[in-house]
Amino acid sequence: MDLEKIIENALKETLNEKGYGNILEEKETKNSNKPEALNEAYVAQAGAFNLQTELLSHKTKKQHQELLEGYVRELNDISNKLDGVDKSAANLNNSQFRSLKIDETYNHNAAFLHGLYFENISDLNSTITMDSLAYMRLARDFGAFDKWQEDFVACCLSARNGWAMTVYNMQLQRYMNTVVDLHSDSVMFGCIPVIVMDCWEHSYFRDYLADRKTYVFGMMKELNWSVIEERIKKADLVSKALRK
Ligand SMILES: [Fe+2]
Repeated sequence: MDLEKIIENALKETLNEKGYGNILEEKETKNSNKPEALNEAYVAQAGAFNLQTELLSHKTKKQHQELLEGYVRELNDISNKLDGVDKSAANLNNSQFRSLKIDETYNHNAAFLHGLYFENISDLNSTITMDSLAYMRLARDFGAFDKWQEDFVACCLSARNGWAMTVYNMQLQRYMNTVVDLHSDSVMFGCIPVIVMDCWEHSYFRDYLADRKTYVFGMMKELNWSVIEERIKKADLVSKALRK
């Protein structure tokens, strides 16, 4: 088996384990009648999330799931169009290739972040212990766990229609909180998201009107620290590799 195949199989295995975002099905599977194609397209699949929380209405949860599925549909459509777009016409002023690449990032981030968000909220038995890696890392990099909370809430209240995230920053080699507007404005590069909060109005307005703070506090009370712990363990592995 060649190296490319080994990497591809490992990637597929990891994505399947996650239960969402089965990106990178081969182009041949989708368009086997087009052998001349460039084999660049991918197919993503939206995960199905059954949020148990009562802090969000059934309607909000249902529409949010549908929104995620819409982003994934758009991403797949863009991927397909990119496969056939005229790259020789690419330019910075007005080109289909440029528009598709911008939309690809937007919809990719939307799908990816919604998956991470749904996965890390709605834990009715939410608990974090002082000996968990999550607690220790956040306390280490923010000075105290409470300081992380205070900063994270401030980020949640600062995002426009966008996201607040705790990320592992590979350049600075520490955890920090970031604010992203929309799905792709002010994205800090080289960061691994470990805690993700949707701060778009669609995530809370039906249930809380303009009271984002109550929504954020509610979601934070039900953070799934088991999921976050696993993400931080993986980020820690990256951290260790970077220090070698
Ligand atoms: Fe959302």
